[in-house]
Amino acid sequence: MRLFLAVDLPPPLLRQVAAGMAALEKIVGRGRQLRWVAVENVHVTLKFLGEVEERQLDQFSTCCAAVEWSSFELKLGGCGCFPSLTRPRVFWQGFAAGIDEMRSLLARIEPCAAGIGVPREQRPYTPHLTLARVKRPKKPGEGVDFRRLREAANDLLPVGASFPVEEFFLYRSQLAPKGAVYRKLKTFAARKS
Ligand code: 2AM
Repeated sequence: MRLFLAVDLPPPLLRQVAAGMAALEKIVGRGRQLRWVAVENVHVTLKFLGEVEERQLDQFSTCCAAVEWSSFELKLGGCGCFPSLTRPRVFWQGFAAGIDEMRSLLARIEPCAAGIGVPREQRPYTPHLTLARVKRPKKPGEGVDFRRLREAANDLLPVGASFPVEEFFLYRSQLAPKGAVYRKLKTFAARKS
């Protein structure tokens, strides 16, 4: 099964993000270059595991449950595109604080992933909320102005809002014609020895 680990936003903050996304979708216009993520699918991916055998699930979960980490604050920051504004594939909202703590949590989880044969990500980890995926414009001139989108997004999304990270989740991703369906399988709460 296809698995990943993620942190969720508290529901009131997620609703603010969803309201901002809806406003941005109106500004950009429907059906343009952007495929907005369904609100229930917005999360902060910690580690994408990919295909994992069901028999490896217990080992992985036991390992994650034994990871020692303290809760911390994540603060939403400005928006941008991966890999760049000029070659956009993903439109995201980043974080202004808590990045080092997310990296340190990931570093503690990596040995659990390695234990079931999932390699360490080679690129540096940049926590973000994927808000939309970018399609090729159908016709020349139909493309979205990503600089203007970023400016509008920084006004409409809850930049500067912070929330405590007290748990992370193991999600199963099932790909469906209407888009991926994510189901929570396990919860791992902050714990200190
Ligand atoms: P994202 O965090 O940028 O949205 C489930 O597919 C989650 O795992 C998504 O949120 C996705 O990216 C993340 N992910 C990371 N690497 C991935 C990959 N190679 N394939 C699919 N999803 C990936």
